Amino acid sequence: MIFIKSYILKLREKIRYYNYLYYSFSSQKISDCRYDYLMKKLRYLENKYKHFLFMKDSPTFQVGSLCASDLKTYKHITPMLSLNHVFSIRDYLNFYKKTKKVLKKQIICFCCELKLDGLALNLVYEKGKLVIAMTRGNGILGENVTDNVKKIFSIPKKLVGKDVPEKIEVRGEVFMLKNDFIRLNNIAVRSQMKKFSNTRNASSGLLRQKNLKNIFMNNLMFCCYGYGYCSGNDDILNHYDKLQKLHSWGLPISGYNCVFNSNYDILNFYNKIESIRSFLNFNIDGIVIKVNSIPLQNKLGYTRRAPVWAIALKFFDQEKTSKILKIEYKIGRTGVITPIAVVDPICISGVIIRRISLYNFHEIKKLGIRLGDIVKIKRSGDVIPKIISVVRNCSNDVQDIVFPHLCPSCRSKLKIYDKRIKIRCINNLKCKEQLKKTLYYFCSKSGLNILGLGFKTVSKLVNKNYVKNFSDFFNLHENALITLDEVGKKNASNIIDAIHNSKNITFSKFLCALGIDEIGTVKSDILSKHFLSLSNLMNATFSEICSLKGIGFIASRNIFNFINDESNKNVILNLSKSLNISSSYDNVSYVRKSSNPFFKKKIVFSGTLNKFSRSQAVDIIKELGGNVMSNVSIKTDYIVIGKNPGSKFFKSNILNIKVILEQNFLEIIKNYL
Ligand code: IVH
Repeated sequence: MIFIKSYILKLREKIRYYNYLYYSFSSQKISDCRYDYLMKKLRYLENKYKHFLFMKDSPTFQVGSLCASDLKTYKHITPMLSLNHVFSIRDYLNFYKKTKKVLKKQIICFCCELKLDGLALNLVYEKGKLVIAMTRGNGILGENVTDNVKKIFSIPKKLVGKDVPEKIEVRGEVFMLKNDFIRLNNIAVRSQMKKFSNTRNASSGLLRQKNLKNIFMNNLMFCCYGYGYCSGNDDILNHYDKLQKLHSWGLPISGYNCVFNSNYDILNFYNKIESIRSFLNFNIDGIVIKVNSIPLQNKLGYTRRAPVWAIALKFFDQEKTSKILKIEYKIGRTGVITPIAVVDPICISGVIIRRISLYNFHEIKKLGIRLGDIVKIKRSGDVIPKIISVVRNCSNDVQDIVFPHLCPSCRSKLKIYDKRIKIRCINNLKCKEQLKKTLYYFCSKSGLNILGLGFKTVSKLVNKNYVKNFSDFFNLHENALITLDEVGKKNASNIIDAIHNSKNITFSKFLCALGIDEIGTVKSDILSKHFLSLSNLMNATFSEICSLKGIGFIASRNIFNFINDESNKNVILNLSKSLNISSSYDNVSYVRKSSNPFFKKKIVFSGTLNKFSRSQAVDIIKELGGNVMSNVSIKTDYIVIGKNPGSKFFKSNILNIKVILEQNFLEIIKNYL
C-alpha cells in the first residue's frame, strides 16, 4: 500500500509539473494523448485507493491552473467548469446509461458540438458592451486578457438586438486556424524565434502576450459554446436555443451544432466528425455531448469540477513508431535544401506514411535524430506527419547524419545560413532541380497556367534538353512532346495549343511566373501597378523598388538582383518577345471596370467551382479590380462558394460575410467582362 501511495503522489507531481509548464509557459512537453493517459491512470488509481489519500490537492480535482504570468486575475461571476472526458464508445455508453438512470423515463435530447482545441475564454458584457475578458485560470479566478481580446475580429465589442441582457458571461473557445498556425511558425522561423508546438499553444501564447500588434491577434478566432451568469432570459429551455440566442446577439457559434435523441445518431455524428477531422482547417480533439434540456441539466447537476450533464468524447490521437531508413534532401525552387526522413512505411489514421519532412537542419539536431533510430510519429488532427521524438537512442546500429556539403542535384558547393539551420544551393537555374521547379512554376497556375504541363512532363522535357529556359516552351514541337513517355498525340497537340493560348498575359502574371524568391501574386501586383511596363521595371533603381509599400527589403533585393543579372536579362528579353504582355492597369478599362460589384472588394473562394478553374476565377476577379484573399477575415467582402465548401465557408458564417453562389457569380460577371 505504501508503494501504491507513493506511486500516486509521484504521478500527481508529474502531472502538476506538466500543468505548470502548460499553463504558465504555454509549453507542452508531452503529447495530449500521453497527458490524457496519465490523468486517466491517476483517476483510476485515486478511485480505487481513495480511502488512503488526501484528494483535494490532486490535479484531478483542479479545473485548470493559474499562471505565473503577471496578468491581473479576476473572479468569474460563476465558476468556469471543465468537462469530464471519455476515450471510448463504451465509456460514453456508460455516461448515457447513468444519465438515463437519473432521469428515469424522460425523453432526453443531446446537443452535440465539436470540441474545439483551444483556450476557454469568459467574456463579460454589461449593457451589451464587452467589459472584461478572462481566461479560465483555475476556474474561480481568471487572467484578464481584455486588451488582446478586443483585437480579435470575431469577438464583438458590442452585442446587438433588443433583448441583450443587462449582464452576461459568454463562454467559448479561442483557437487558431491550421493555415494561420503554419504561417505564424514560418514567420517565427524567419525571425529566428521559437516555434509554437501546436495551435493551442500558439493561441495561448498570443492571448497572454503583452503589446501585441493587431495583425497577430487576427490569427485568433472565437466560437461560443454557452454562457455562465445571465440576467433574464430564463425562458430559454434548452441549450441549443441558448446558442442560437447568443448568435442572434452577434456572437459566433459553430455551424456543426446538432441535436439528437438517440445513441445511434450521436455515434454517427462522432464517426462523421472524426472522418472529416483532418480536412477541417482547425483542430478539434473530440465532440462534446450535452443534455439539451436546461431543467434536465439542473436535475443532473454539477460536480466540483464539471457538469454531470455533459461529456467530452475524445478522439484518440494516433502516434506510432517507425525506423529512420535514410535522409533524403529535397531542393526547393529557390534552392533551399529540406531534409526528408525516409521511414519504414507505417499507417496512421488510414494514411501510409513513408517520408516525413524535417523542415530544416536544426530540427535534426533538436530531436537528436540518427540513421537507424526508432522515432515516434504523429499525425494528430493535422494532415502533415511529424516526428515528435526519438524512442531508442542507444542501439549500436545507428549512425550520425552527415549534413550535405554539395548539392545532391548539381554537385555545386552549398551555402550554409543561420548557423546551419538553412542550407541552400546557390547555383540557381544552372542547378537542374531548381531549373525544373522554376520552369514548372512558370507553367503552373501561379504562372502562365498551361494545362498539361505538370511537374513530371516539365521534368522529362528538361532531362531531354528540349527546354532549357522559359522561352523554349514557345518553340516546342508536338513531336518532341510525343517522344516523352505517357504523352500521346492528342495530348501533345492540346499542350501545344495551351502554350499558344497562354501568350496573352498581364504584366503582373508575367512577373509572378518568373518565380523570383518572395515575389508571389500580391507583390507582383504591387510592382506591376507601380511600374506599368517591363522596361520601366528593368530600369528601376533599388531604392525605387524598396520604397514601394508592401515590398520589403528582401523582396526588393531579390527582384533587383534577378533583373540585373546578365543571363536573366537575356532570358527575360527573349521571353518578352514570345509573349504579349499587357499592363494590368490601363486607364480606360479601369474606369469601365470600377462600376462592377467586385471592384476594390476582397473576395474569398471556397469549394470546387463548376464552370472555372480556381485560377481562372482569380484572374476574373483581378480583371474586375477586386482582390482575391486566401483566407476569410472580418475584412472579406464576399465569399464565392462552389461544391463542397470547406472551413472558409464555416468561418464566413461566423463572421456574417455575404455569400455568393457560383451560379450568381456567373450572372454578375457576365455583365462586366
Ligand atoms: S462546454 C460547463 N463545449 O474543452 C461546460 N467546452 O476539456 C464547459 N471546449 O474548458 C465547457 N469545445 O475550453 C464545452 N463545445 C464545447 C467545447 C468546450 C471545447 C473546451 C473548453 C473546456 C474544455 C474541457
